[in-house]
Amino acid sequence: MKQRLADLREQALAELKAVEDAAALDSIRVKYLGKKGELTNLLKQMGKLSAEERPVMGQLANEIRAELEQKLDGKKQEIAEKMLEVRLQQEALDVTMPGKEQKIGHKHPMYLALDEIKDIFVGMGFTVLDGPEIELAELNFDRLNAEEGHPSRDWSDTFYFDEDSRVMLRSQTSPMQVRAMDSMPLPIRIIAPGRVYRKDEVDATHSPMFHQVEGMVIDKNVTMADLKGTLNAVMEKLFGEGTVTRFRPHHFPFTEPSCEMDVQCHKCGGKGCPTCKGEGWIEVLGAGMIHPNVLRMAGIDPNEYSGWAFGMGLERLAMRRFKIADLRLIFENDVRFLEQF
Ligand code: DAH
Repeated sequence: MKQRLADLREQALAELKAVEDAAALDSIRVKYLGKKGELTNLLKQMGKLSAEERPVMGQLANEIRAELEQKLDGKKQEIAEKMLEVRLQQEALDVTMPGKEQKIGHKHPMYLALDEIKDIFVGMGFTVLDGPEIELAELNFDRLNAEEGHPSRDWSDTFYFDEDSRVMLRSQTSPMQVRAMDSMPLPIRIIAPGRVYRKDEVDATHSPMFHQVEGMVIDKNVTMADLKGTLNAVMEKLFGEGTVTRFRPHHFPFTEPSCEMDVQCHKCGGKGCPTCKGEGWIEVLGAGMIHPNVLRMAGIDPNEYSGWAFGMGLERLAMRRFKIADLRLIFENDVRFLEQF
């Protein structure tokens, strides 16, 4: 019995020494110390021993059990530490490595200017509308009182999609006036920003695609004084208090009377410089009192209602707002330029 216990101890310790992973360790525990394990089996045979031998063997067996349990626990810890070591190595993070720079963009200066313009008008009770860039000539011209033969309808000025000049890239945001009158109840106060297209060569002040902000008010007893007061207030909010403007008579088919509004040049204060081409003023919008024909075509009685409208050049305003000298900078998307805003 003693020999068998000693052999068992020897064998178990040898196996323990060689073991490398937790699963194998567990099967050693079961093999020797489990309910049907070898040490347990030996203990069951104690009954056959003499009365003097039994306590001695019993004590030896208990000592071996205690030793094996201790070694098993020790080994278990050893394996756990080794595995942690391996994991730490696998998941090692080199905190001294330089990080990858995240380049986060920001709004384009023209859209920054547009956000300011929208805020100003929304604060005055205007609604912001969006509309199609592919437009019917009927809305872009006819419904705006620009009869057949009007120079702006010419093929040399406008991008048409079809032979009979019915569908086009809108040349102005003014058709949004018609869309608003056709779909909204009176009174109306709207602005409608968006892209417009004309057959223009690219230079410092021209591009075949540019942006306008259309605006329109229709209500009872609306006058030219409202137009001037509102637009002056908008320019002061946008460019600062004391901004000087002037209104010049002009002609548009859809307004009567019509005017253009200039803002005094920010560079020279009106004396004349390269930025304003020596004029002292920068033209920023066309405007006027809505022509009675335009109201009538939309089913609005010009004897009951009147209105005013304007169309701003958004690039012009952004250039004045951020002191940008050349229109092309707005579209070239050179990061060195854009980063400044
Ligand atoms: N649509 C005109 C243009 O592109 C600008 C304009 C002038 C719009 C007068 C208006 C307006 O609404 O009343 O030149």
